[in-house]
Amino acid sequence: MIDLDTDYGIGAAAQAFLARAGKMLIGGQWVDSASGEFFETRDPATGRIIGRVAAGDAEDVDKAVRAARNTLEGRLWGGMLPAAREKLLLNLADLVERHAEELIELESLDNGKPVTIARMIDIGRAPNFIRYMAGWATKIEGATITPSVAMGPHARFHAYTLKEPVGVVGGIIPWNFPFVMALWKTCPALATGSTVVLKPAEQTPLTALRLGELIQEAGFPDGVVNIVTGLGETAGAALARHPGIDKIAFTGSTAVGKAIARAAADNVTRVTLELGGKSPVIIMPDADLDQAIVGAARAIFFNAGQVCGAGSRLFVHNAIYDEVLSGIARIASAMKIGPGLDPATEMGPLVSEEQRQRVLHYIESGLSEGGELLAGGNVRAGDGYFVTPTVFGRVKPEMTVAREEIFGPVLAAASFETIDEVVNLANDSQYGLVAGIWSTNINVVHRMIPRIRSGTVYVNAHNLMDPAVPFGGNKQSGYGREMSKMAIDMYTETKSVYIAY
Ligand code: NAI
Ligand code: MG
Repeated sequence: MIDLDTDYGIGAAAQAFLARAGKMLIGGQWVDSASGEFFETRDPATGRIIGRVAAGDAEDVDKAVRAARNTLEGRLWGGMLPAAREKLLLNLADLVERHAEELIELESLDNGKPVTIARMIDIGRAPNFIRYMAGWATKIEGATITPSVAMGPHARFHAYTLKEPVGVVGGIIPWNFPFVMALWKTCPALATGSTVVLKPAEQTPLTALRLGELIQEAGFPDGVVNIVTGLGETAGAALARHPGIDKIAFTGSTAVGKAIARAAADNVTRVTLELGGKSPVIIMPDADLDQAIVGAARAIFFNAGQVCGAGSRLFVHNAIYDEVLSGIARIASAMKIGPGLDPATEMGPLVSEEQRQRVLHYIESGLSEGGELLAGGNVRAGDGYFVTPTVFGRVKPEMTVAREEIFGPVLAAASFETIDEVVNLANDSQYGLVAGIWSTNINVVHRMIPRIRSGTVYVNAHNLMDPAVPFGGNKQSGYGREMSKMAIDMYTETKSVYIAY
């Protein structure tokens, strides 16, 4: 199926997976799509086709939902004790660790990201996340309540709550952290005893399919996790509107998130949305500038800016503006851009030609609307979906590059004078995912945090994630939270029980 002669090479295990991959996982079976259609997945560093993957549609989604429902209600999974679910998740974590190198190579090849990022973040942090969620399986508990309601002078009630699995979960995920996203949508569901139909992004289906194999190897019963590969408008839309789905967990664009919420409303399907961002990074005059300059550059250029929490709007105090901007521009211009599989690469290509065109369009708008180009702004010569790290200075709040999520390595920077001014600038966005403050003045920091409308605030850091810390958005960045006990809450229903005595 593949025609791989990359200079950087991938190991035998990843090669073998590419040779067998392409089918979907439904009810424990690896199957072609009902229509027999396929789509292609490409290496973003070269544009070459690396695999053909089944193009599932509504019929396949329907089969997968039925399989997930049967498993949910069957004895094997529905009757499984919490400690047994925990053990299966721990098995999965061990398998991910054991096959890490193969997963790193597949992720880098399919998404374009540097192997260093895949090793440190995507695959490297995965076992911890899985083990954290495994621990919740045995710690899900309700409450006992003494209600004041009574029937007559003698009948009293004892009340308690049960936390039950939410049911069949539809996970629709993006391409920027394909393996991480697949885990975020499956592991909390598995900890609670729910079942899953996962729809990976069409640009990056490979590691989700490998995860499906590892889930089987870990010992999960057939149908606990089903994976339907396919396009958003067909497979994704079918999942969002399917009446057999109890909850949709989505990460992706705000536009698609709204469409999914609308479709789900017809069945009152529960929805959690983790959407886009246009996250501000604020550098105060008292910041440690060496750290802040590197931190602000990483906040936007990490993963080529294809990060929901990317620090894409930078606000620098007037007193240090020139120094900070020239420092960031220097970092941008020196970044080593290349194929993700080259271990020396610091920034890889964007995920697709479509995404590159989208980003280049934004760069053009930055130029034509009067942004001051301080670095980048062009395409890297040769094949692949490369865009150079780009810095715009003196950006006005109404410019397109200051308002819309670019999802590429493009920074929009501006200066400010007062705290009130910068808080207003930071909040002047339809989004509210994360924000960064760089300062050594703890009083100023504490006063700013409550005034910033975002799901997360980083102080002297950016783009951190931890399984124990909730993550999610305010405003049009979405609703619901991932990670932490809050994620478990999102995958359970509460049943209240009254018992007369
Ligand atoms: P997208 O939102 O279209 O894709 C995300 C997922 O949704 C994919 O699995 C896709 O197949 C699915 N999907 C697409 N249309 C659907 C529909 N009508 N019904 C159900 N599922 C559907 O994102 P896309 O087009 O790849 O990227 C566009 C922009 O979205 C990016 O430039 C970026 O601004 C934003 N984005 C944000 C992400 C985040 O992490 N918040 C991740 C990916 C994209
Ligand atoms: Mg799309």
